[in-house]
Amino acid sequence: MSRLNLTRLRQMKAEQNKIAMLTAYDASFSHVLEQAGVDVILVGDSLGMVIQGQESTLPVTVDDIIYHCRNVVRGSEKVFVIADMPFMSYANEGQAIANAARLMAEGGAQMVKLEGGAVMASTVEQLTARGIPVCAHLGLLPQSVHRVGGYRVQGRDAETAEQLILDAITLQDAGADMLVLECVPAVLTAKVTKALTIPVIGIGAGSICDGQVLVLYDMLGLTPGKRPRFSYDFLADTGTIQSAISKYVADVKSGEFPTLEQQF
Ligand code: KIV
Repeated sequence: MSRLNLTRLRQMKAEQNKIAMLTAYDASFSHVLEQAGVDVILVGDSLGMVIQGQESTLPVTVDDIIYHCRNVVRGSEKVFVIADMPFMSYANEGQAIANAARLMAEGGAQMVKLEGGAVMASTVEQLTARGIPVCAHLGLLPQSVHRVGGYRVQGRDAETAEQLILDAITLQDAGADMLVLECVPAVLTAKVTKALTIPVIGIGAGSICDGQVLVLYDMLGLTPGKRPRFSYDFLADTGTIQSAISKYVADVKSGEFPTLEQQF
């Protein structure tokens, strides 16, 4: 059994071979995603909203992520698996190391993801120095929803856009091996992707980046309420879960997703 690894993901960026990533939280979906050609599964703290029915991602615990990550790992053989670090599970470096170690050792994740800009650089350094690969997350940070006052597009003005580029470079220099960029204008994503050597995965961030990620239940039209503008109901077009996921993979790889309608 050999899973996709960071070397191959970096090669994919260099070869302009787009990375197809989705969230998943259980073994059955993990298997379906792998069969459909998904490269990376994120066990996102979005599970708080789509699995647990919470109003935000904030109540999700490290134990929750470990439980779901184990199931995702059991259901797959080849995909690269990333585990989200929940709200306040990396509030200081000691906590970050202890909790990331649990996500890797107990959850079976190959990488952890954490939200935040340059302020997280020393945490990223501490984790990577201990052999824990880190995916940074910039743009809209759902764990800061109460501070920013809602789920809004970030980096629209020149100053915040410039700060985001500097944050991305700082996090890469600190050792981050991947970046998720959420809800930012497509032109900003293109600049960040050009500035970095690590893969940049967009969600609501346009098409000029190294790959795409969506919340699985959003792209299957299962999440109650209004679907985010940047997502798309692939199940409505295709009729089966398997073909919906396959279509997503094909559209990400060909650059057909996202269209202009799903970008800012
Ligand atoms: O938790 C999650 O699913 C995420 C994605 C929105 C990138 O962080």
